[in-house]
Amino acid sequence: PDFLLAMGDDLRQGLLPLRVFNNQQIYDAELRRIFARSWVFIGHESELPHPGDYAMRTIGEDPFIFVRGHDGVVRVLLNACRHRGAQVCRTEMGNAKAFTCPFHGWSYRNTGELMGVPVKNEGYRQLDTSKWSLFEAPRVESYCGLVFANLDPAAPSLEESLGDYKWYLDIQFKLSDGGMVVIGEPHRWMVDANWKQGAENFCGDSSHTQMTHRSVLDVGIVDRAAAGSPGKKHGFHVHDCNGYAISIRQVDDTAERFWEYPPEVTQHFNTRRLSEAQLALARRSLVHNGTVFPNFSFLHIGLTDSKDRPAAGYLSVRAWQPRGPGRTEIWNWIMVPKEASEEYKRRAYQVGMSSFGPSGSFEQDDVAVWPGVARSAATVFAEINNVKLNYQMGLGDMGTATPVTGWEGPGVAVQSNAGEGGLRTFHKTWYARMTGQELSAVEAEVGHG
Ligand code: FES
Ligand code: FE
Repeated sequence: PDFLLAMGDDLRQGLLPLRVFNNQQIYDAELRRIFARSWVFIGHESELPHPGDYAMRTIGEDPFIFVRGHDGVVRVLLNACRHRGAQVCRTEMGNAKAFTCPFHGWSYRNTGELMGVPVKNEGYRQLDTSKWSLFEAPRVESYCGLVFANLDPAAPSLEESLGDYKWYLDIQFKLSDGGMVVIGEPHRWMVDANWKQGAENFCGDSSHTQMTHRSVLDVGIVDRAAAGSPGKKHGFHVHDCNGYAISIRQVDDTAERFWEYPPEVTQHFNTRRLSEAQLALARRSLVHNGTVFPNFSFLHIGLTDSKDRPAAGYLSVRAWQPRGPGRTEIWNWIMVPKEASEEYKRRAYQVGMSSFGPSGSFEQDDVAVWPGVARSAATVFAEINNVKLNYQMGLGDMGTATPVTGWEGPGVAVQSNAGEGGLRTFHKTWYARMTGQELSAVEAEVGHG
């Protein structure tokens, strides 16, 4: 659409066309230009501990089987029979030696190879079964056990795509000796909102906390510092970090907080894997949240579900799955350091579910607000008038915060929550991918900030 081509000008001014949040044409292009060409999160290796373990996943709207073969290799297979296209895997997760198609009975090993074809001798004497394996995502790579797939065979490697942002990811995923592991199964729920709504929110929308989540603050089960009052210095916003952003909320004092993990968990932290600067950030932290473009987000946080019980740290990992221009399936995995006791894992799971699970105290607030944006975006009025949204908070002379000098991490850090720089970073990256430009070219056109 025309408005996409003119977006460089909008972004420079901190504006965004409202229609990007609910437009069929944009959505169809996103599936092809973004989801079919980016590293898309599939799942964590700890979800498939044994050979044959599998789980259904999606890339964009395409169904894939995330499976550990009998050879121990993790693959991402298209869930479509090579005979006449039926889905060979019909259950959400489980363990299987083979997938047998419910249509005519072709069966595939858990490595994807075609193993059995009914009436082979009578009907397919010449069939070379080695040529009829299930299709595989051409690229599958992992980082700290997080498995991503890319449908573009020519894409740069996962590590190259994460680039400088690894500095921040390492703080979340490498602190503990055994790394982070998934507890239970991921929860999924539908929301009538665009997938970008959640993805941009996790880039650092701190200012919504005081409003959207006010009831949770009033009940008193969250530290007000964790909520990051706009204008107060409760940590940092980092934007323009290789096209990604992160929000870091901390306590003002020098107390060790580590997202409220108890000593029984922090004793396993292997601090040699992180630099002094990374450790210093982790030590005072209450919340870290960020998004790896396009739709993978994390929220590292310490919370409680009752004033009478101590806060517990956990890491929520999310995927904002596109299901239509105004529809998203939210996936939520809860992770904790591997060495934590079973009791602590149960407690962290409980706190995670009660806060950001499908019926969580925070989650219900967000999913009440986001559908309104999708409705506004679908209005004829927005189309006729090319309505623009305001993403100007903290941009240029709008804000009082200046970039932190001597910041030891990558990206541009600002010591204020009164900014939408992280969200602007997300939309610059989006604009670059949608128009096929290098991020550096877009940054040259739009500017940093
Ligand atoms: Fe799968 Fe025919 S479509 S066996
Ligand atoms: Fe929220």
